[in-house]
Amino acid sequence: MKVATRAHVPPFAVMEILAAANARRAAGADVLNLCAGEPSTGASEVVRQRAVELLTSGDLGYTEALGAPGLRAAIAAHYRTWYDVDVDPARIAVTTGSSGGFMLAFLAAFDVGDRVALARPGYPAYANILRALGCEVVELPCGPESRFQPTVAHLDAAGPLDGLVVASPANPTGTMIGASALADLAAWCADRGVRLVSDEIYHGITYDDDAQVATAAQYLDTGAVVVNSFSKYWAMTGWRLGWLVLPDDLVAPVDALAGNVALCPPALAQHAGVAAFSPDGYAAARANVERYAASRALLLERLPELGWTHVAPADGAFYLYADVSSTGLDSVTWCARLLDEAGVALTPGTDFDPVDGHRFVRLSFASSPAVVREAVDRIVRWQGTLAV
Ligand SMILES: Cc1ncc(COP(=O)(O)O)c(C=O)c1O
Repeated sequence: MKVATRAHVPPFAVMEILAAANARRAAGADVLNLCAGEPSTGASEVVRQRAVELLTSGDLGYTEALGAPGLRAAIAAHYRTWYDVDVDPARIAVTTGSSGGFMLAFLAAFDVGDRVALARPGYPAYANILRALGCEVVELPCGPESRFQPTVAHLDAAGPLDGLVVASPANPTGTMIGASALADLAAWCADRGVRLVSDEIYHGITYDDDAQVATAAQYLDTGAVVVNSFSKYWAMTGWRLGWLVLPDDLVAPVDALAGNVALCPPALAQHAGVAAFSPDGYAAARANVERYAASRALLLERLPELGWTHVAPADGAFYLYADVSSTGLDSVTWCARLLDEAGVALTPGTDFDPVDGHRFVRLSFASSPAVVREAVDRIVRWQGTLAV
């Protein structure tokens, strides 16, 4: 029987590492998992309490396709609090994680054959979803000279475009697009009728008090789309809750698509998710960021021991993207051997960059500082055993 060509998306290499890690664990060996891009704390107490109340007494039927009005209002208020930007709740679409948001935004914004640019290295699902939808993905080779982020110069060299996807802070590099660079990209897109899609899932997870985290929500009137999620800052990965902030022209199409594709996002997650924006919800998220900051400081301090000289500046998110090619191993072998010989799971860069990813690995420091410390000890010892 025929299987659609669009279904041939590449598998994540990290899934093989995860399977090997699970097998190792099942066999009784210990594994430190630094490959998952997932906070280990889970949702805050206030969100979980609200979910318990809702489970026993709440109405958990379908909500509006674009999301429960209370949650859309809370998200709009968040833009006022964090960015001093006014967003009409009518522009907000609650989605099934940001992953569901991408699907809806891409379906609504792009046609088959449209050319959509994105940074390489980058989060692989953007390219995989776009290709499955029949779009042409234009990879912008972004190296250390532009902090692994696209610039106007990259766009000028890319040929005609219909869309641009950016992420700041980015996965896997953690690097950010400053406010003025985002303004430049947004203006470039606005001048040419190119749809800017800004993934802001790691907003709030930054380590420099002066970091200017700018939202593309200020460019809605030029057609920009914001994608965000409860998964990372609010540590609610499995709740499958995210949102889009939409320009006027995409509200009705996304509403119609969302109703057809999923009817509505999970009602329990939506109603409980409102509590994420309470003082206790924000406080719990900030406490998580402090833990990541402690792990990050530890990692940066021990970089000389690790011998990793080419490391992306981890301005935000909870990743360290490091060049390990000086060990003489490609990153897939490096990760497989590290797991096998030292019980530490990292992600090979090939998941994020089909061209240069064989040189890089991604370490997630979203787990506890104690786990990160132990992992660094093991990596240092293991690397010492490698004959280069
Ligand atoms: C940059 C980026 N965007 C989007 C996602 C998808 O997250 P979710 O669907 O849980 O919101 C991830 C997950 O790791 C990510 O790293």
